[in-house]
Amino acid sequence: MSAPQPGLLAPLPAASRYLTFRARPGADPRAALARLAAHPHGEALVIGIGASTVAALGGEVPGLREATPLAGPGQAVPATPAALWLWLRGDERGVLLHRGRELAALVADAFIVDEVIDGFVHRGGRDLSGYEDGTENPEGAAAIDAAIVDDPRPGLGGSSFVAVQRWIHDLDALAAMGQAERDGCIGRRLADNVELGDAPPWAHVKRAAQESFAPPAFILRRSMPWAEGADAGLLFIAFGRSFDAFEAILRRMVGAEDGIVDGLFRFTRPRSSAFLWCPPLVDGRLDLRLFDET
Ligand code: HEM
Repeated sequence: MSAPQPGLLAPLPAASRYLTFRARPGADPRAALARLAAHPHGEALVIGIGASTVAALGGEVPGLREATPLAGPGQAVPATPAALWLWLRGDERGVLLHRGRELAALVADAFIVDEVIDGFVHRGGRDLSGYEDGTENPEGAAAIDAAIVDDPRPGLGGSSFVAVQRWIHDLDALAAMGQAERDGCIGRRLADNVELGDAPPWAHVKRAAQESFAPPAFILRRSMPWAEGADAGLLFIAFGRSFDAFEAILRRMVGAEDGIVDGLFRFTRPRSSAFLWCPPLVDGRLDLRLFDET
């Protein structure tokens, strides 16, 4: 029986390290992925595979595609494809650094590290803007329903599709706003996390209200703050049983539907955006049966 990678459903860890890889030109990824699959797999690791890697394997994952760039009034979301993505989860940054190096060496014949970012917990689960993140996340059975593919085909059921975006905050712009304007960008009060009854139409929680979409657009968010030198922001992560819910929300956020741009863009912008597929596990190992040669 295939099962989801447990790390994507588990609560956020104290520390994360995200490794994004591109393909080594001309290399066959099969052996590198087999080595990753042989690696013991628990809550400490989530693996995502990009559409280009699936194509290099000669396989097909129904529903997997690259992110497409989006634009709305004055705002654009890039698309930055990745061949492989590893989310290392743990308690301590140094341990994750070394584990990341080991895993990167394990796949180095086929994948080149493109970007490494460390994620951390800020004040018990807040974005660096100070607002609590994850309040309206589905939980338990609803989280599984939102994030996990329900399909009888071996190697597909239990998998998940993930959108990974690095948002970079303009903390000076945020600091220059009054408290009411900041609360209006999010649609919740910083002081007590209560949703504003009179939130403006651009308020993030109004733009993203999952139940306001048809069909409802539930996603499982697992984002964490990041900081590097003077730059900082949110490593936004959303797991879904497809990319549809995520993309519907993002289209509305950027104003592609009605010209109203999400208030978030007043202090943050996405610098990267990648779509990947997270295979299920079978007997505690990555289940890559979809790519078995026949
Ligand atoms: C820097 C980027 C972002 C920040 C700082 C941010 C922050 C927040 C905050 C503070 C909330 C309210 C509390 C909660 O329910 O979690 C929220 C809700 C939400 N966000 Fe974001 N968010 C960001 C990007 C995104 C993106 C890119 C999407 C999806 C495309 C998204 C989807 C949602 C959803 C679905 C909700 C819950 C809405 C509801 O059903 O009430 N967010 N976000």
